[in-house]
Amino acid sequence: MNRLPVIIIITSVGIFTVLSVCGIGVNFNLAPDIKVPPPLSDLFPNQDEGPHQEFKSEKECLVCHQTGVEIPNIGNSPKIKHEYRRNCTSCHLLPGAQI
Ligand code: HEC
Ligand code: HEC
Repeated sequence: MNRLPVIIIITSVGIFTVLSVCGIGVNFNLAPDIKVPPPLSDLFPNQDEGPHQEFKSEKECLVCHQTGVEIPNIGNSPKIKHEYRRNCTSCHLLPGAQI
């Protein structure tokens, strides 16, 4: 039996795999533009009921994030980067939350 074709196929599959693992030439990333929702940082670690500690309503989150505001001693609250989406903490995990 002629084994040459089999050897050629196995070798080329191997070369392809090595190349793609090294990120050369072949790109198997089918969704390169997926954005990761940043999890919520603990804004006031010394308070149990800080604004990032519990999700009450979209409206309460948007008080600070609709336009973005400067909070003294804490920093700048970033303006929301997307259209209105309900249930903010289904994507932006509360501090310490796991999926
Ligand atoms: C009192 C104002 C205030 C409220 C209310 C508030 N945030 Fe924030 N948020 C901030 C500030 C200030 C930062 C920036 C923190 C930093 O730079 O460390 C921030 C940062 C963020 C970030 C970027 C990731 C991070 O934590 O650094 C997201 C996402 C976010 N907030 C979502 C939310 C959601 C969802 C809610 C409602 C549960 C919410 N925020 C309620 C002030 C607020
Ligand atoms: C379906 C998932 C999803 C939901 C629901 C959602 N977000 Fe986001 N959010 C994202 C993603 C993804 C990003 C990052 C976008 C980017 O980097 O361009 C983001 C970015 C943000 C940022 C900017 C953070 C920064 O560091 O600049 C803020 C603020 C924010 N979201 C607030 C909210 C608030 C408030 C709500 C609820 C009213 C909410 N999000 C609901 C997915 C979500």
